[in-house]
Amino acid sequence: MAGGLVGVKAAPFTYAAHALGAAAAVMVLVWCIHFRGGLAFDAVNKNLIFNVHPVLMLIGYIILGSEAIMIYKIFPKVNHDTAKLTHLILHAIAIVLGAVGIYCAFKFHNESGIANLYSLHSWLGIGAISLYGIQWIFGFVAFFYPGAAPGVRRGALPWHVLFGLFVYVLTLATAELGFLEKLTFLQSSGLDKYGAEAFLVNFTALVVVLFGAAVVVAAVAPKAQVPEPEGYAPIPVS
Ligand code: HEM
Ligand code: HEM
Repeated sequence: MAGGLVGVKAAPFTYAAHALGAAAAVMVLVWCIHFRGGLAFDAVNKNLIFNVHPVLMLIGYIILGSEAIMIYKIFPKVNHDTAKLTHLILHAIAIVLGAVGIYCAFKFHNESGIANLYSLHSWLGIGAISLYGIQWIFGFVAFFYPGAAPGVRRGALPWHVLFGLFVYVLTLATAELGFLEKLTFLQSSGLDKYGAEAFLVNFTALVVVLFGAAVVVAAVAPKAQVPEPEGYAPIPVS
């Protein structure tokens, strides 16, 4: 959004987002590998198949999708077509990794005799990734190939940004429910409520909230200096 809704520049929020995203990625890996026993697509211990789910949903889907959203602000001087292509490709990779992550949750359920799609988390998850896919197709058709007429593009862009951020926030909310749900399952089967693992999971979810906030501000904040309002003239120095 060129005008900018808030009087801050995007750059510091992109730096904060990179740091928080890296922290969240490390935290989810430490959780699933160190505390939960590791990752596998095929295993006798079906929990290892489940573990791929949070890792791919967070690192593959959310973090890559976030970098895609911020791309115009991370490289403000890069050629617009290059930024657009990177935006489109990163979002496509995020959707594919997200789909593989969801497949792993279903695989874990099916191979363990657990029902599918019984939770709010799973319903919102299916909704979020479906809307994300629709957003991608609309974005592709309107802004890339074949591309809408210039007037239509101009009209569609604010909707693209608004709907994109809505779907993004829905995705974050889904991940938060996922962390809560898994930790609650573990705590009901005996995991220490104040133990190291419980704190790690809750803090990972908190870092994801802060990360998402930084990404949203980076997306709505202007690239460079906030332009002065129309008709405004600075007070002369002398
Ligand atoms: C935005 C990212 C996410 C999406 C779109 C998503 C989506 C889904 C879907 C569709 C299912 C249902 C699978 C089935 O019914 O067989 C599921 C299951 C599950 N997910 Fe996620 N998930 C996400 C992130 C996470 C995260 C970060 C965790 C943290 C551990 C998590 C934990 C779970 C758990 C415990 C289940 C099994 C219980 C259930 O079906 O609700 N999810 N997820
Ligand atoms: C699910 C996928 C997508 C999501 C969630 C998404 C989201 C967003 C968001 C939040 C912005 C605002 C960024 C900013 O102002 O800094 C944006 C801008 C934009 N997106 Fe997407 N987008 C997606 C897919 C696509 C696709 C496939 C295209 C096709 C090329 C596209 C083209 C654009 C363009 C041209 C802009 C405007 C950049 C500017 O302000 O100059 N998007 N998108």
